[in-house]
Amino acid sequence: NHPFQVNQHGHLEIGGVDSIDLVNKYGTPLYVYDVHIIRENCRAFIETFKELNVPAKVAYASKAFSTVAMLQVMKQEGMCLDVVSEGELFTALQADFPTENIHLHGNNKSMNELRMAIDHNIGCIVVDNFREIELVAELLQEQDKQMDVLMRVTPGIESKTHQYIMTGNEDSKFGFNLTNGQAEQAFQQLFQHSHIQFKGLHCHIGSQIFETDRFLIATEVLFQELKKWKDTYQFIPEVLNLGGGYGIRYTSQDAPIPYAVYVKELVNEVKKQVEALAIPMPEIWLEPGRAIAGNAGITLYTVGAIKQIPGIRNYIAVDGGMTDNLRPALYQAKYEAILANKANQAPDSEVSVAGKCCESGDMLIWDLPLPQVHSNDILAVFSTGAYGYSMANHYNRIAKPAIVFIEDGEDKLVLKRETYQDITRNDLSYE
Ligand code: LLP
Repeated sequence: NHPFQVNQHGHLEIGGVDSIDLVNKYGTPLYVYDVHIIRENCRAFIETFKELNVPAKVAYASKAFSTVAMLQVMKQEGMCLDVVSEGELFTALQADFPTENIHLHGNNKSMNELRMAIDHNIGCIVVDNFREIELVAELLQEQDKQMDVLMRVTPGIESKTHQYIMTGNEDSKFGFNLTNGQAEQAFQQLFQHSHIQFKGLHCHIGSQIFETDRFLIATEVLFQELKKWKDTYQFIPEVLNLGGGYGIRYTSQDAPIPYAVYVKELVNEVKKQVEALAIPMPEIWLEPGRAIAGNAGITLYTVGAIKQIPGIRNYIAVDGGMTDNLRPALYQAKYEAILANKANQAPDSEVSVAGKCCESGDMLIWDLPLPQVHSNDILAVFSTGAYGYSMANHYNRIAKPAIVFIEDGEDKLVLKRETYQDITRNDLSYE
């Protein structure tokens, strides 16, 4: 199960701070991040590239968890940033993130998004479709500016117990398909464009992946295309962006691979391909999101109602749910949790953890082993750092929780708990 620290009061400690003190200070539900873990995750990627002496950029996929404080930590760690919307870009600007290290993604970037990106001289736009090429070219010409551009392609692979099916993922809303000539057609529009510096290819093959094979196969597929472009157009890629998707541990069923292993295997594969093609080593870019933020976050809830259905199931309800963690309802995602105020007590029965939303599907965890639970106990759910706050919503007009960062034994509020005034701020009267 999840490794965690317990103090002399039998309370869960997060980054050296008593979780019950945090609850008393900030209330629940509460997202708590151990910033030390975030930093370690960044360094696992960056330092492995350094050790291997390979030019690289590691861009944090900010969709996983974007707040000003988080992006400031990313800046401190020398990460680049992947943003997919004006909102994410705006947050990056608020965090004073160096714009040359920001990359813009998205399968339907608006004129405004592209204009904002170009106005702020961000580092790179990853074009996703033909309309976007037109829009980018139009804006750049209008302003007589240059922009680095990557092309997102759909490598058309899918993993099935270590086999791959070339057609598997071709039916995707993202990127240019390689197999039907779309990518080459897009390449012809981008290559040697007067205002576009076309740098190379991008692919992202999926999320929460626990095998290196898929990444290696994707790399191979990209190089098949690059070989064609080298032979036909003498194009030499300067950048190869292999996306994110590195799996993390939610439950004991998950067996994540150390991030350094992904980096090493990817670098080996790229080196092999580069030698075969007789071109210089391109910069390798990666885009981990979950792998940076996921295991650094814990959500603390207060237990309220307890419903026992003898012979069937015991439910405990917490003061949050699908509004702060949509993943169980949306993907049947699994989590592990303990009672933070009884962290030294062994589980002796199973309960199912319900959220408070008016929705039967609002169940956070089924059949969770816990010690005897009472109302007002504090439940700590592990690995909620990615796609928790970022997918939080206002169903039932529930306010979003506060976020606290812990580092060096100190807690710091980095996002205020929402108020009902915040929620109704844009409501206009109809009386
Ligand atoms: N790069 C691109 C282009 C992506 O589309 C994504 C994720 C990432 C990087 C980061 O992937 P990661 O390293 O975080 O797996 N809401 C879902 C995950 C959706 C991911 C979408 N794209 C979840 O909660 O599992």
